[in-house]
Amino acid sequence: MELNILVVESGGNREWEKVKSYLKRRGVAVYAASVREAFRVLRNEPIQIVLADFNLNHINSISFLKRVKAIKPHVEVIFLSGHVQLSKAIEAMKEGAYDFYEFPTNTKLLMAVVEKAVEKQALFVQKVELERKVKERFNFGKIVGRSKAMQHVIEIVGSVAPKNVNILLSGETGTGKEMIANAIHYNSPRVSKPFIKVNCAAFNEGVLESELFGHEKGSFTGALSKRLGRFELANGGTIFLDEIGDISPSTQIKLLRVLQEKEFERVGGNETIKVDVRVIAATNHDLKKLIDQNKFREDLYYRLNVVHIELPPLRDRKEDIPLLVSYFINKLNEEKDYRIKGITKEAMQILLAYRWQGNVRELENALESAMALAEKDVIEARYLPAFLLSEQPHNGDFYHISNNLSLYEVEKEIIRLTLEKAGNNKTVASKLLGIGLRTLQRKVKEL
Ligand SMILES: Nc1ncnc2c1ncn2[C@@H]1O[C@H](COP(=O)(O)OP(=O)(O)OP(=O)(O)O)[C@@H](O)[C@H]1O
Ligand SMILES: [Mg+2]
Repeated sequence: MELNILVVESGGNREWEKVKSYLKRRGVAVYAASVREAFRVLRNEPIQIVLADFNLNHINSISFLKRVKAIKPHVEVIFLSGHVQLSKAIEAMKEGAYDFYEFPTNTKLLMAVVEKAVEKQALFVQKVELERKVKERFNFGKIVGRSKAMQHVIEIVGSVAPKNVNILLSGETGTGKEMIANAIHYNSPRVSKPFIKVNCAAFNEGVLESELFGHEKGSFTGALSKRLGRFELANGGTIFLDEIGDISPSTQIKLLRVLQEKEFERVGGNETIKVDVRVIAATNHDLKKLIDQNKFREDLYYRLNVVHIELPPLRDRKEDIPLLVSYFINKLNEEKDYRIKGITKEAMQILLAYRWQGNVRELENALESAMALAEKDVIEARYLPAFLLSEQPHNGDFYHISNNLSLYEVEKEIIRLTLEKAGNNKTVASKLLGIGLRTLQRKVKEL
């Protein structure tokens, strides 16, 4: 493992040279800094351990320790010192110092202690990361939306998640079906059991059947060994059948049987296998329509659709856009270590006016791209993907107006844009603007 150690000494003790050169010989990246520089180095470099003189200049060693912990709680501090006052040393240990050594040091021993501290630290970081992940999974707060429609969805998810019922999720691409499926499983009593996802559209008919139900050795060319299907793997837990509208009639029959009887046979097998699996299915098709066209079995539909959750398209809940924007800015700041503080009004207006056929996913992608391009800490309109901007002229109720225009200039701009849209026909333009033709003619002259 790579070791990065910050050495903070007060100077004057030759023992430090011995320590540093030993560490370097052992392949450790040694950052040497004065007290003044130490905190900056600590913030900017991947420091794991601080080795500090117990008698530092300008700062009491306990205060130093506290500041290090405040900046990076998981970094361990080991003090070294020429002469140690026992009571002080005890105080330092109580405040969270990792260890304490008197010069002359046994460098080998010191190295062993450092390695141990780093091991402990790695465990700590892993634990924190794990806790964060678990918390996130369980957190309904991840589902962003204050619109009535989304509040309704969140409410239903909260009430059905703990119950053992099958759920059908529908909605356009990118509306959050998979996110909701996750929220349901991780907030259900099956949380510690498997959560298995199958994208039904990704396999052709035969392959999908063997994916879902498994196969016996030799059941078809290429079936070289027995294979467990996803239903067997999901036993006790939840299976997420994505793009359910795309499955073939024969697979539909088999699926119906699992839902009704909770049993099936592997492809090419005779043994009946019993499973207890909760099914969450998702589709961006209108299944009712597919039923009318005889492409989807009605009985299967009713088995899947015990509770139906319909995710509304983003364009029908534009009040969620500002909320999603700040959610994604925070999320991407964290993931990519960006420092974006916000978005200009102008850019937000563009986001509010766009149609978002790819829904929340498309919005997230647009922000990711804008954040990668932004040169300052604010997302400006010019950093947004070009397709968002080119759509503007088609959108009747949107005008591209920057903040610092006077009322006079705004009026001029609106009239200019409306005339442009009306193909320079003043009668049409005056209707669009809701003013009389003569008023428009007068204004055009004035402006
Ligand atoms: N309300 C929301 N709050 C926060 N994030 C959301 C929300 N809705 C969607 N997302 C995010 O948008 C992205 C797309 O969502 P998801 O994959 O769940 O969509 P989907 O409906 O399954 O789309 P598809 O039909 O294309 O598979 C994901 O990153 C998801 O976390
Ligand atoms: Mg999906």
